[in-house]
Amino acid sequence: MNQITISRPDDWHLHLRDGAAMRDVLPHTAARFARAIVMPNLRPPVTTTALALAYRERILAALPAGSRFEPLMTLYLTDNTPPAEIARARESRVVHAVKYYPAGATTNSDSGVTDLAKCRAVLEVMEKHGMPLLLHGEVTDADIDIFDRERVFIERTLAPLVERFQGLKVVMEHITTREAAEFVTAAPPRVAATLTPQHLLLSRNALFTGGVRPHNYCLPILKREVHRAALVAAATSGNPKFFLGTDSAPHARHTKENDCGCAGMFSAHAGIELYAEVFAAAGAIDRLEGFASHHGADFYALPRNTEKITLVRESWAVPPSVPFGADTLVPMRAGDFVHWRIAGA
Ligand code: DOR
Ligand code: ZN
Repeated sequence: MNQITISRPDDWHLHLRDGAAMRDVLPHTAARFARAIVMPNLRPPVTTTALALAYRERILAALPAGSRFEPLMTLYLTDNTPPAEIARARESRVVHAVKYYPAGATTNSDSGVTDLAKCRAVLEVMEKHGMPLLLHGEVTDADIDIFDRERVFIERTLAPLVERFQGLKVVMEHITTREAAEFVTAAPPRVAATLTPQHLLLSRNALFTGGVRPHNYCLPILKREVHRAALVAAATSGNPKFFLGTDSAPHARHTKENDCGCAGMFSAHAGIELYAEVFAAAGAIDRLEGFASHHGADFYALPRNTEKITLVRESWAVPPSVPFGADTLVPMRAGDFVHWRIAGA
């Protein structure tokens, strides 16, 4: 099959940043996706409904004229998030989830949670309101090997959390291991996962192809080929627990080509096309629509999109860099080809 028409997809995990940088990256997402769950790890983080509402207004103001893209906002969970904030978030109707970053795990996570036990009351209110908890699923212990941090998180944090809060909706974001795919598959229907294009397309070899490759560095870090294969199997299985979340995470070139480079890959410029490659290679292009356009909306109890897009199997060259505020960034596949494109785009 060289062409497929699907309902317009949504991106259930996206970093848009703010200001001039946001104005440059947002059109890539808005051209492809109807909606996106927008991550709250700004500086300072989006910890309250009032901050989320203000951020949403800045996003709407930055949209290209005529765009109907809808940002779905999230709150950044801290040790001190008051339970009343969850009720405010629900009432706002624009905050759709709460994001958990273990303190220190990744970009702008210093205000993250030091111990989930401190969030018990908040989690109970989330359970009551059906507000999903989105997890950056890695432990942060320096003595745990970086390639094992997701697996250990499942054992130490995720499994007990799912057990303790029997009604809590949980999304394990950007899963990277076979163990995560297995855990989510075996868990109750209120537990789901997002998958990124890079973890479906690349193994950890991509970090060192002919030398160190900072633009392939993200967190959780790319894993072995067996894990990539397990993630492709989960994504293309048709199981509604698995859905699209690019984790497109823009960083200026110089902050990645640096002696302490930032984690994050920018993929919004090909945010649906890269998944089409994955599904076509797996012989499962007919399952792309469920993964990209249905499963996430169903999980979040939002209506499915009615507009359609058509993807065609045609190669196009990714530019070596794209504008990013006062800087530029290096997009995924820079200087190489993507093999699907959106018809009429
Ligand atoms: O690679 C990543 N980049 N992982 C994250 O969890 C955060 C993200 C970012 O904000 O840059
Ligand atoms: Zn992210």
